[in-house]
Formats: sequence, C-alpha cells, structure tokens
Amino acid sequence: MAPHNSIKKGFSKLIKEDKLKLIASYFENPGEVITLLKSYWHSDKRQQQLFDEFSENTISNFFIPYGISPNVNINGKTYIVPMVIEESSVVAAASAAAKFWGERGGFHAQVIDTRKIGQVHFGWNGDKEQLQELFPKIKERLLADTAVMTEKMVKRGGGILDIQLIDFTAQIDDYYQLRIAFNTCNSMGANFINSVLEQFGHSLQNFFAEQIELPETLRKVEIIMTILSNNTPDCRVKVWVECPVNQLDGIDEHLSGAEYAQKFKKAVDIAHIDPYRATTHNKGIYNGIDAVVIATGNDFRAVEAAGHTYAARNGRYESLSSVSISNDIFRFELEVPMALGTVGGLTGLHPLAKKSLELLGNPTAPELMIIAATMGLANNFSAVRSLTTKGIQAGHMKMHLNNILNQLQASEEEKRKAREHFKEKTVSYAGVEKYLESLRK
Ligand code: MEV
Repeated sequence: MAPHNSIKKGFSKLIKEDKLKLIASYFENPGEVITLLKSYWHSDKRQQQLFDEFSENTISNFFIPYGISPNVNINGKTYIVPMVIEESSVVAAASAAAKFWGERGGFHAQVIDTRKIGQVHFGWNGDKEQLQELFPKIKERLLADTAVMTEKMVKRGGGILDIQLIDFTAQIDDYYQLRIAFNTCNSMGANFINSVLEQFGHSLQNFFAEQIELPETLRKVEIIMTILSNNTPDCRVKVWVECPVNQLDGIDEHLSGAEYAQKFKKAVDIAHIDPYRATTHNKGIYNGIDAVVIATGNDFRAVEAAGHTYAARNGRYESLSSVSISNDIFRFELEVPMALGTVGGLTGLHPLAKKSLELLGNPTAPELMIIAATMGLANNFSAVRSLTTKGIQAGHMKMHLNNILNQLQASEEEKRKAREHFKEKTVSYAGVEKYLESLRK
C-alpha cells in the first residue's frame, strides 16, 4: 500500500518515466507497479503520446470495457450502439430492452430543441433603467465584435440566437447577467461558446469605457466571469416506447400484461415522489446514457449535471422518465437534456470515439442525442423490469460472477466449472469462494 505522503513540488515538470518511478516508489513493490502500469501503455508510441496529451501528469491508461448493443431500432432505423462502461450487466440490460422493444415497434424519439446557454456575469453600479436603455446598443456592439468569430457557425446554420440582460441586483448588489443562447450545430460547442463569451466580456468593458457622457465611476464594469452553462434544458430530447398492455403479457408469470403495466407504472411513480428512489432510478438511466456519451468522446459530467438539474426543475428531485397507461396503451417516456457533439473535442481525436461515430453511421449531434437518450430509456426499462419481477441481483450477480472469479484468481477450467455450477444458483461472493475451495481441495 502506498503511504499517504505528499510529493515535493515540480512533479508536473518530470518526464513521464520519472513520474511513474516516483509514484511507484510509494508502493512496497515499485518494480511490480512500474511493470503493471507500463503494461497498459499503448504499444504504438504515437498513439500513446496522443493519450498522454489528452490530460496532464499521465503515467498510464485506465481501461474500461468497450461493448456493443446490437440492433437498437430508433424511429425505424437500426443502430449498432457502442457502450463504454465498467458495470457488468448494463450492456446486457440495454440489449435485452432493445430486443424487447424492437419487437414492439422500436423506440420513438424526437429532438425538442438544441439551444445552449452561455453567461457573462458582471457588476455595474449604475441605475438599472439606464442599463436597460443602453442594452440595445450593447447587444449591437457584442454582435459586431464577435461577427468574425461566429461567421463559420452562422454559415453552418448556427450562431448566437438571443442575448438577454438579467437583473440580479435584488440578490447580489450590482450584479447583472447576460444570458446568451447559442446554436452550435454538430459541435458540443464549449470552446466556441466560451471564446465568444470572453470576447463579450472585453466588448462590454470597452463599451462602457467609451460612454463619455456617463460619470467616470459608471464607465467601468466588473467582469466577474464568463462561462457556458451546463444547464441545457432547451437542448433536450424525448424518447418513448409504447404498446398495447397485452403485449406485456408474460413479463411477470403471476400478472397479466395489464396488471404488470400498473405495477411498472407504480415503480416509476415512486421515483416521482421520493428523491431517494429518484436518484437510483435516474442513475440507472445514466448507466445507458453515459456509456454512449463516453464511447463517442463526449463530456458525461456535463450531460449528467444537466440531467440532474432538469430532474429537479419542479422544486424536488424527480424521475426523468414517466409512464402513462391510457386506452390500454402502455407508454414509457424519457425526456432529458443532452448537450452532445459529433465534431470537435475528443470526438475526432480519440481513435475509438471516431470509430464509435462511424459505427453509428456518423450521426449529426441531434441524432446522437436521440441514440444516447434511447439507451438511457432502454437501461431504465430493464432495471425497473428486473426490480419489479425477479429482482436485480439474479441477473446482476450472474454478470458479476466473472468479476468474482477473477478476484479469486480462478483458472480458466475453474471459471468454466463455476459458470456451469452457478447457472441455476444464486451467485454470492461467499458462495463462489466456497465453491472454488471445494474444487481446489
Ligand atoms: C444499478 O447500476 C442501477 C439500478 O439501481 C437502477 C434502478 O434501481 O432503477 C438497477
């Protein structure tokens, strides 16, 4: 075990080999640690350099499985969906739901809007009515000063959609905000938005400096910060499945399809009234979404942060999905914000992200929003289905069996025997340990 020591200054200046040696020296067996971490380096030096340059202070790579959910039917089109996730059973759960709904009309999806938000937070100690009066001129100036930066995006059909001035002086003295809406087309747009916002900050300062008719104290604005908002409620997608309730016959051996639909609805309704359940329920949704977001080189923290804010939009943290049953039609729906890109950022740099997008047929950003949300609904369906029937552990632990066997350093022969043995039995760590002991005796 590495002791919890601190590292002396200058770590970032060391070359990679020396960083690795230094970190390894904190372990009891530095040689083994170096060999282990080096064994995860890419064999092609140029590829490894690419990965090293994604981040800082890199000493190795951290592998996460890259899986496939085949045959996901969305709006009549079939996708082979790449999923990067470490949790056993997520890909299997998504695939099972895709198969189930593929036989019932597939997934239906619609992009509601794609607008993203950026903010300029600033302080000005003048009169708010005067600021409102100046605002049309300010807006004009901001747009003029960023025209060169936005030209290409405008040509692609995007750019700045709207600029609003918001008065927060009742909460914080002199604090105002410019809230800017953007369309960033197929890019996630973080760099584009942040560059435009920083220019807005400079332009705002210049604008006020030039207002010579104002007293000198009012010719200054304090730019507190400029940054995009990860709250993207208007960059949102809706995905749903539906079928007559009798097509749910057989899911639960003791209930008719109509009865099961009611039970499923109750399970989802609980996540609407109880944040403890809602958090787990939504986590199951993000099992599917994050896996696609990561596989395509997008920012899963941004996507999750937006989703959780959206889940709390009614003043309480709630389920992102909902169920309705009307005229014997069961409908299960998910509505989520989803700021994704298919160009720019890591999407074109990470070799596997690039391949993921190719596998998906090089989708547009809105199409990728639909695919990722679909996998969220698929995972949510499978999770709630398991929870309301045989329970989650049966399937989960079957998938987890491999992990337990690996932890217990089972040989290939032992693994084969254990998989056979536990086919019809409940899997637990203690049970597997005991079984391996019996084999090894
Ligand atoms: C586990 O990763 C996800 C679930 O807990 C989701 C849920 O409870 O709905 C199974």
